Amino acid sequence: MNRRQFLAIAALSGLASASACGSGERPATADPAAFRTELRVPPLLEPKPDRDGTRHFALTMQRGRSELLPGRPVETWGFNGPHLGPTIRAARGDRVRMTVTNRLAEASTVHWHGMRLPAKMDGGPHQMIEPGGTWSPHWTIDQPAATSWYHPHPHGRTAMHVYRGLAGMFIVDDGDTPELPSTYGVDDVPLVLQDKELAEDGSPTGDVLSGTFGLLGDRMLVNGVHAPFMTVRAERVRFRILNGSNARRYHLVFGDGRRFHVVGNDAGLLPAPVEVEQVSLSPGERAEVVVAFAPGEQVFLRTVAGGDDIDEGDFDLLKLVAAQRLTSSPRLPARLAAPAPIVVPANAGVRRFRLNGHDAINGKEMDLSRIDEVVPAGATEIWEIENTVYAHNFHIHEVAFQVLDVDGDKPAAYASGHKDTVYVPPKSTVRLVVKFGGFTDPVTPYMYHCHILRHEDSGMMGQFVIVEPGTESRVSRTIATPHLSH
Ligand code: C2O
Ligand code: CU
Ligand code: CU
Repeated sequence: MNRRQFLAIAALSGLASASACGSGERPATADPAAFRTELRVPPLLEPKPDRDGTRHFALTMQRGRSELLPGRPVETWGFNGPHLGPTIRAARGDRVRMTVTNRLAEASTVHWHGMRLPAKMDGGPHQMIEPGGTWSPHWTIDQPAATSWYHPHPHGRTAMHVYRGLAGMFIVDDGDTPELPSTYGVDDVPLVLQDKELAEDGSPTGDVLSGTFGLLGDRMLVNGVHAPFMTVRAERVRFRILNGSNARRYHLVFGDGRRFHVVGNDAGLLPAPVEVEQVSLSPGERAEVVVAFAPGEQVFLRTVAGGDDIDEGDFDLLKLVAAQRLTSSPRLPARLAAPAPIVVPANAGVRRFRLNGHDAINGKEMDLSRIDEVVPAGATEIWEIENTVYAHNFHIHEVAFQVLDVDGDKPAAYASGHKDTVYVPPKSTVRLVVKFGGFTDPVTPYMYHCHILRHEDSGMMGQFVIVEPGTESRVSRTIATPHLSH
C-alpha cells in the first residue's frame, strides 16, 4: 500500500492523524482529532539583576533535538533549549544587558527586531558572534509597549538559522493599559507561526534559498508544535501573534468566522481596539489580538489562502478548547495607550526604494561595506517602497513607522498603528512615514530589507546610518567590515 492509499483508508476509517501525512500531502484540515499535542508556551526568561540594577538576560544559541512531529526527534536549533527561545519581557525604563553565547558550529548574530537601540547593540550582520564567543549588548528600554522578537541575522545565513529554530519573543511593557489581559501563558499568550516542510522522519527539509520565495512549507507549527491545542481558561485571551516564517504570509481567521479585536501592531498599541474577522501578517510582522470565548466551546485559528504566491493553502493552526468554567476578564478598554501618531512634517524628506527581482534594492545588492542612506538623528521622513514584480515586504531596523498609503489607499484600520515591517503587494507602491531614533553612529549601520528571508539573504537589503544632523555630507559611504576579512 502506498502513502496515498494509506491516507485514503486512514481518512475513511477515522485514523487520519497529523503524523500520518508526509510532506507534499496537505494535512487534514478541520480534523479536530489531529490536534492533540498541547501548545507549548515559551518560558519567560528570568533576568538576574546586576549590581547596578541592570536586568541581565542570558541566551545561548545551541543545537538540540525536538519532536516537530510527535515521536520523531530531529535536530533543531534554539536559545537555551532545543528549539525556539524563551520570551524576554522587560518594561520601559529598564536597563537591560544581554549575554548571548554561541554554542553553534558556525558564526551567527542575534538581532532585536523592533527594538529602539544604538546600532552597535542591534545584532545585525555587523555584530557577528563566532562559535564559542559571547556578545553582550546593553541598552535602556525606551519605547511604547509592543510585541517584538529576536532572531539571527548573519548575512546570507539568516533564512537557514531561523528555519532551524532560532527565534524568540521580546515583550515590552509600558504599564499604561492595565485592562488588557496580561497574565503570561494564561490570558496573554505568544503564538509564533512558522511553516515547515518535514520529511518522513520529521526533519525539516526544503531549500530555504531556492525558488522565488525560498521555503513555503505545508506543515504549520505554532510555538514549534505541529497541530497543537490550547485550553482556554479566561473569557478573553490576548494573543501576541508573530509571523516567524521564512516566506509565508498568513490571513488569520477563526473557523467559525467569529470577530475579534486587534489591539496592537508591530511597534505599539492601536489608539482603540479594531474589530475584524481577518488579520494578515507577512514575515516578521506581529499583531496583538483579543479574542472572546464561551465556556466549553472549541474553535480553530486558521489561515486562509489569499491569492498571492506566498499565501497559498488553507491550514488549521491551533485548536482552542475553552474550559467549562472561564475566569472572568475585564471589559476590553475603549481606548488604548497608543504612541502618538507620527505626523508628516512640512517638507519631509522622501527616499525611494525600488524592489525588483529578489536580490537587490534600487538595483544594488546588499554590500556590508557600503552605506546606502544617511539619516539625521530624530528625523521623520517619507519612505516610498515601489514593488515592480512579485510579493515582498519591507522592514526597517530601529524605527517605528505608519503606513500612509498603499497605491494611494489608506491601510486597513487594524494595520494603521505603529509598525516596523509592512507587506508590499506585487506591482504596488507603499508610502511610510518613518520616525528615526536619536542614537548616532556614523560607522555602524542599521538594516532595511525584505523580510522574506530568501530575498534578504540574497541581497535585498540596504544599510543606513543615523548621524548628528548637519553632518550628513561628511559621513563616509564606505565602512570597514573587519569580521568579514577571514
Ligand atoms: Cu527581523 Cu533585519 O530583521
Ligand atoms: Cu529588525
Ligand atoms: Cu522580497
